[in-house]
Amino acid sequence: MRKYLIAGNWKMNSAPSGALDSGSTYQTHADVDVVVFPSFLDLPGCIDAKILCGPQHGHTEDHGAHTGDVSLKMCKDLGCLYALCGHSERRADHGETNEDVAAQCIAALELGLHPVVCVGETESERDAGKEKDIVKAQIAVLPLESEITIAYEPVWAIGTGKTASPEQAQEMHAFIRSLIPEDRRDVTRILYGGSMKPDNAEELLSQDDIDGGLIGGASLKPTDFGAIVEMATSLS
Ligand code: PGA
Repeated sequence: MRKYLIAGNWKMNSAPSGALDSGSTYQTHADVDVVVFPSFLDLPGCIDAKILCGPQHGHTEDHGAHTGDVSLKMCKDLGCLYALCGHSERRADHGETNEDVAAQCIAALELGLHPVVCVGETESERDAGKEKDIVKAQIAVLPLESEITIAYEPVWAIGTGKTASPEQAQEMHAFIRSLIPEDRRDVTRILYGGSMKPDNAEELLSQDDIDGGLIGGASLKPTDFGAIVEMATSLS
């Protein structure tokens, strides 16, 4: 019922070699939505290459005196269709709060960008048994009645090679889904992110409440990213 969405987060890396060539694995696929979040510098190239894409964050004001920032509006005007909001690296490196993330999500929606909003607990929060409280607080401020995508990314699984077990991920995804208003509950996509790779994609994507992946490291390797897209296609 929910189409898989496989998203690549290239973080502060240049486009992988060949990614912008025609026929690349990052382009649209028939049965699976494929989206890339490149650096700002690679957004125009992705758009020219017909890759669905969006910024990794964006300023909520359209323009103004904000040195070093790029606005969501500028990205929209360029031709972006998506926006990543609240990635844990933005929360950690730039102090983005739950309220900042919600403001970005709302600004994106107002511009007609589809927000992919990241939530997830740190290792110490999980060790303290607080993972659901943390995620609930991150979710509570979001406009859940709107068309958004949520990405559950346990911080301890990002770039560490440690993946949440399919059971841990499914449990949190089901919890997140229970927080979504009833009329959007079955249609809102919830992606898993955190060391998703070709060899663990099948068991993660097979879980009832996992509707795709937000992929960092493996998205920089076109063959690995392509293998995950193929896996999602075969499970569709
Ligand atoms: P990872 O990153 O796949 O390298 O763990 C995921 C992310 O940060 O979105």
